[in-house]
Amino acid sequence: MATTKTKEVPTGRVSELIQVEEERFRRSRARSHQLWTEARAVLPRGVPSSFQDAAPQPIFVERGKGSRVWDVDGNEYVDFHNGFGVMVVGHAHPKIVEAVSRQIQRGSHFAQPVEDAVTVARELSRRFHQPKWRFTNSGTESTLDAVRIARGFTGRERLIKIEASYHGHHDALMVSVEPPPDRMGPADQPASVPQSDGIPSAIVELTTVVPFNDVAALEKAFAAHPGEVAAVIVEPAMMNVGIVLPDVGYLDQVKDVAHRNGALLIFDEVKTGATISPGGATERFNVIPDVIALAKAIGGGLPCGAVGGRDDVMGVIEEKRVAQMGTFNGNPLTMAASKVTLLEILDANAYAHFDAMAETLQGGLDEAIARFDLPFHVITLAARGGVTYRARRVRNYRDYLEIDKSLSYLSWLYQCNRGVLMAPGAEENWTLSVQHSVDDVQRYVDNFAEMARDLRK
Ligand SMILES: Cc1ncc(COP(=O)(O)O)c(C=O)c1O
Repeated sequence: MATTKTKEVPTGRVSELIQVEEERFRRSRARSHQLWTEARAVLPRGVPSSFQDAAPQPIFVERGKGSRVWDVDGNEYVDFHNGFGVMVVGHAHPKIVEAVSRQIQRGSHFAQPVEDAVTVARELSRRFHQPKWRFTNSGTESTLDAVRIARGFTGRERLIKIEASYHGHHDALMVSVEPPPDRMGPADQPASVPQSDGIPSAIVELTTVVPFNDVAALEKAFAAHPGEVAAVIVEPAMMNVGIVLPDVGYLDQVKDVAHRNGALLIFDEVKTGATISPGGATERFNVIPDVIALAKAIGGGLPCGAVGGRDDVMGVIEEKRVAQMGTFNGNPLTMAASKVTLLEILDANAYAHFDAMAETLQGGLDEAIARFDLPFHVITLAARGGVTYRARRVRNYRDYLEIDKSLSYLSWLYQCNRGVLMAPGAEENWTLSVQHSVDDVQRYVDNFAEMARDLRK
């Protein structure tokens, strides 16, 4: 890791390089630009989901195979975006194609239970140590159900969430996801700021916000609302503000504080589940929560989600006290893809492969950072990782705010113009797949080294 003594990067140089790279980007993306212009007539911001609208413009994708995707202008990329952390199986994996094709010929939807759902639930139990599961269709639905289950189980209404954690777009947790500095309140007692217009203030008031990695602030939040809190929901390693790791012992302490106050601990493992180890953050950090929300990587590329929990907690569904349902829950195509993903693709060899690629990335990037004396550092966790554009570790949202976001934008442009597609947005990080090779990840390292050299020129 670079030291704090490292020279800063002159902002003038960053802006100069951004201009050069934006021009290069635009020159080879005429068709994407045309489609985006047409799309704006029928889709607000020209995209199906606001996350897909990022500077300089959205890239319309035509197809994907293995570790690669191709855009509508014919540009080829090694895919580090991987559909916001979904495609750890890689694109068009032969086993997924085979399983989904076989199932679609036998019917794509019944809204009746299928045998694969039992197999998948059993495998999730084995990996995440939660005995009971229900399926959903997205991470949003999984965290929505998780908080309803917790509220039903405890008979309490208040939630505690971490400042700057994103848990999906339902009202209860769209609070202080990226609060503006002039409204975010004091660091040890952040304000609850709605992330969007249209969220009732009565809902926002039920969500208390605390900083990550701060047990004292959590204790204070509980003390301010005795007997009111149903659950603390935590993304065990934050993955929507770069990557923010938990302090050693922090997750254990959160569980302890929650339980002492009669509340449940929910892990949002939508991004960490099955990507940073077979059993996600639960396994990697060795803390078992009361309820887990999953989605993304567990479905092999199909819309998916799952919520799992303790026997007594999930008993609220058994007893028909809490409603958990959905037309597409346990859809046969999703279950078929999920079964091969979890049982046949993401095996021990897959995780060893992720670790080997992470080592190449960590080693190569550390070397370039040291060679060009840059105030950055790298975090890798099996299939996930990213560069943080500051020398010191980020422990919470307030640290993250100190990062110059133009550096991550410049990095995105460098990678994109040299054949690596990263997820858009300064806060994003990479996801690798079982179909990526060491040569694929070396391309990211080489592009990064080129940017590092140009920053110091
Ligand atoms: C940690 C986390 N939780 C929940 C969600 C919501 O998932 P979805 O977009 O599938 O609704 C996301 C999406 O990025 C996420 O990163």
